[in-house]
Amino acid sequence: MVEILYLAAAVAFIVGLKQLGSPKTARSGNLIAAAGMLAAIVITLASEDIVSWVTIVAGLAVGAGLGAWFAIRVQMTSMPQMVAAFNGFGGAASALVAAVAVVEADLDTIAAETSVSILVSILIGAITFTGSFVAFAKLQGVMPGRPLLFPGQSLINGLLMAGVIGVAIWGGVAGEAPGYWIVAGLAAIVGVLAAVPIGGADMPVVISLLNSFSGLAAAAAGFAIESNALIIGGALVGAAGLILTLQMTEAMNRSIGNVLFAGFGSGDEPAGASTIGDRPVKSATADDVAIALAYASSVAFVPGYGLAVAQAQHALRKLADALEDRGLSVSYAIHPVAGRMPGHMNVLLAEADIPYEQLRDLEQADPEMPQTDVVLVLGANDVVNPSARDDAGSSIYGMPILNVDRAKQVIVVKRSLSPGFAGIDNPLFYDDKTLMYFADAKAALEDTLAALKEL
Ligand code: TAP
Repeated sequence: MVEILYLAAAVAFIVGLKQLGSPKTARSGNLIAAAGMLAAIVITLASEDIVSWVTIVAGLAVGAGLGAWFAIRVQMTSMPQMVAAFNGFGGAASALVAAVAVVEADLDTIAAETSVSILVSILIGAITFTGSFVAFAKLQGVMPGRPLLFPGQSLINGLLMAGVIGVAIWGGVAGEAPGYWIVAGLAAIVGVLAAVPIGGADMPVVISLLNSFSGLAAAAAGFAIESNALIIGGALVGAAGLILTLQMTEAMNRSIGNVLFAGFGSGDEPAGASTIGDRPVKSATADDVAIALAYASSVAFVPGYGLAVAQAQHALRKLADALEDRGLSVSYAIHPVAGRMPGHMNVLLAEADIPYEQLRDLEQADPEMPQTDVVLVLGANDVVNPSARDDAGSSIYGMPILNVDRAKQVIVVKRSLSPGFAGIDNPLFYDDKTLMYFADAKAALEDTLAALKEL
């Protein structure tokens, strides 16, 4: 009966994951998966000999309370670091479960597969824990976001990793408890050293990879304590995290190796610090933008990281409503890596209740560009940079982009000509059909709406 109920919980995880694939069903998917997790917890508690109910209930209350508090308080722009922190705790939890198994097991007679599962869980869990907190610190600005590089870094990391595996084999074969604790300590150091050379803006990819690791650590812990629910749940997290990681790197036309080892992007350039962009551009005011929109029959909004920074999603919705009232057709073109985390723009626009039918992904939006009268680029930069398509020497060459320069007119809203995450200039800004509206995205949208009402 218990195994059947665990299976039902696992089915709930899978259905939940499936539903997370579309914004329409994502909320119910989240609830179904959470219900599956609650069921798995209840089944475990009801079927096992519980050491201390007080401790368990206290743990549940503190964990659920803190989780809810963080989730309610967190700003949309801080979501990546919250995910990083939760991931880190996930890795630590798996490592702790495995550590308890070490303490309780008789290491002289332990089965080889149990010992391997425990070691894998401790190793991956500890790397995930410290790596995720470095990611958190970089994104939160507690430590510099730029890649921290030093000579011989890859060699040192490689040697350390080889050392951890060596100690793990010794600890496992010899059945010596200290081997397990040394693995935990060294793996924690590897997690830090592997994460520091990665730029802050690449952290979403790293977090997704570490998320996948936390799943593997949980699955390994599941083998160690013979819990099918933990094995299935961990495997699902591991696979989902890996697929997401691959999708992100594909959308940037980069390899995982390039993200992990190339020290790409600094991610914390202050706005306006760049000397990029000394060619003339056509600048526009709110009135110019309002007039361009008033004479258009179709508009596509392209949201980017700047829209999230400005928290301009509600102002955007108000302008879009006003344009629809005037008879314009409105759509939103969303690049898969716009912003700083997967689905960043979808979540942002969903906050303002923007209708799903108006959202277009890259494949849907691109063919519509030539027929679109005005494209309004809101705090996006790299994802609309034609160099990725035209300039073989560009660092983002090959990254799929939204070809907004093929629309009839382009208006770019940003505060200056400074570059985006990739740190490179954008020829779109100097294009004949582009108007640059230099302003904070929220202020720009509010002023444009006011100007539109005056027409
Ligand atoms: P970016 O290329 O990073 O550009 C964002 C632009 O927003 C900046 O040029 C900035 O210009 C502008 N901005 C900042 N604050 C603003 C504000 N308050 N109002 C208006 N504009 C503001 O953004 P993107 O086009 O969304 O591209 C995302 C980048 O992140 C890509 O290079 C992608 O590869 C990378 N990345 C994304 C992910 C995921 S999963 N989304 C993961 C890893 C890496 P000003 O300073 O001039 O205003």
